Amino acid sequence: MSIDPTTTTAWQALQDLADVFTIDLREEFDNDDNRVADFTARASDLYVDMSKSLLTREVRDALLSLAAECKVEEYRDAMFAGDKINVTEGRSVLHTALRRKQGDTLTVDGQDVIGDVHAELDKVYDFANRVRSGQWRGITGKPITHVVNIGIGGSDLGPKMAYEALKPYVQDGLECRFVSNIDPSDIYENTVDLDAETTLFIIASKTFTTLETLTNARLARTWLLDQLRDQGIVTEDSESEAIAKHFVAVSTALDKVAEFGIDPDNAFGFWDWVGGRYSVDSAIGTSLVVAIGPENFAEFLAGFRAIDEHFANEPAEGNVPLLLGLLNVWYVNFLGAESHAVLPYVQYLHRFPAYMQQLTMESNGKSVRSDGSYTEYDTGEIFWGEPGTNGQHAFYQLIHQGTRLIPCDFIAVANPAHGLKDGETDVHELLLANFFAQTKALAFGKTEEEVRAEGTEEKIVPARIFEGNKPSTSIMAPELSPKVLGELIALYEHITFVEGAVWGIDSFDQWGVELGKQLAKDLTPAVAGDEKALRETDASTRALIDYYRNERE
Ligand code: F6P
Repeated sequence: MSIDPTTTTAWQALQDLADVFTIDLREEFDNDDNRVADFTARASDLYVDMSKSLLTREVRDALLSLAAECKVEEYRDAMFAGDKINVTEGRSVLHTALRRKQGDTLTVDGQDVIGDVHAELDKVYDFANRVRSGQWRGITGKPITHVVNIGIGGSDLGPKMAYEALKPYVQDGLECRFVSNIDPSDIYENTVDLDAETTLFIIASKTFTTLETLTNARLARTWLLDQLRDQGIVTEDSESEAIAKHFVAVSTALDKVAEFGIDPDNAFGFWDWVGGRYSVDSAIGTSLVVAIGPENFAEFLAGFRAIDEHFANEPAEGNVPLLLGLLNVWYVNFLGAESHAVLPYVQYLHRFPAYMQQLTMESNGKSVRSDGSYTEYDTGEIFWGEPGTNGQHAFYQLIHQGTRLIPCDFIAVANPAHGLKDGETDVHELLLANFFAQTKALAFGKTEEEVRAEGTEEKIVPARIFEGNKPSTSIMAPELSPKVLGELIALYEHITFVEGAVWGIDSFDQWGVELGKQLAKDLTPAVAGDEKALRETDASTRALIDYYRNERE
């Protein structure tokens, strides 16, 4: 039986607090010298300032009581121990095992989980070293210069985000590309300028059944063989040799990989207890390992591990993922926030919000609890964002002066990858000044008196007032190293976990994606012109398909 959080004493206490809640962050800062120290915490390399959030100590205490009543810590321990907390799929949830140290022990269903993880990691490391050193060669003996990862969802967003984030760590002469969409333009654009002789495809799919990935994998195979045939490099007899040199796969379904024609020796496995959106630190990250090398990947894993240990061991009052997850619950369920912005002031993190969207929204976009009963409260807020300062010139207007409450996470690092100067000005400092300025403007705003004191024409005074009390959390780290990236990802994984645990939902299934997949399959014949299939569909869809068929040249 899942706990209905609304039946807890803490929920009622929070509701009572919310009913009369007002906060003036200017006053809080003026009257409370300890606010910053008291609402700031560290987790490994991450410095997390929650002082500009809509929190009082009373609210925080009530949120911690809510976590206790909802047994969040027990549930966390069950996850780390390998209990089958993904109840609708009957699976353990063990992405945290992917970053445990060699020699640690964890046995689940008689399986030596950590031993298996490291055996597979060694295989991936060995493969990556061979590609990086030029020992792994294409069919004509040339070393690999381009790696194309074909995957979608968790088999794309994580590796792509991390590759972009860690570009300064990518080996010279190697480039990774990522093909995900079934829109043929995606694979076309990502292969049009490549040389088959020096290109390696990684087909990444947990299930190895995903329509987009298998279609793109077949297109890639055709592209490769056509190019090599046209150049007289392969004949029918040597096709499988070419596939073996230019295709590897990552999957939990190694039998299906073999069926596709990829040599099982060139396949890397993982396990059903790793959710797709939690898999960047498994063999799904193979493209990343090739790009940045095993040593840097090991550092990436160390970052995840540091936050796992913090989440598992830090007392509740200083436990950053716990506090941030609870803070989100406060915003969603008691203050009515519908979305949450993630704003990295680090250009290399430009894919981080997209990655976060799958992590958070596929996990917590649920309206039934784990026991099948309906939630009568909101869950899963909408995560979105763009890097700063770009977003400032696009959508921040709404955050500052719109009618909606949008909690924001600002992320920045002290040391830039490229310390460029504009004359005497350190450009990274301009970036950081913008970060700090935005969180200040959101929190403290600009009063009517201040606007008037600037001599503003009376009729536009209201338009120039900034209400303030718009919440933000600031997350800073020394630099965007592989370790810090691992820490950031693990932080958000556990924030997502905490929210799902309070809401009593299964954050690890994703049944909501299935219906669309099935209908797409059913509609494919109609789109291709099958009259019977067309007649069977609804009038709107039929008209859309008719439109398509009439317009298609
Ligand atoms: O359709 C959703 C989903 O199942 C995601 O959860 C997953 O990350 C993605 O599709 C890709 O799945 P696979 O890795 O099995 O191809």
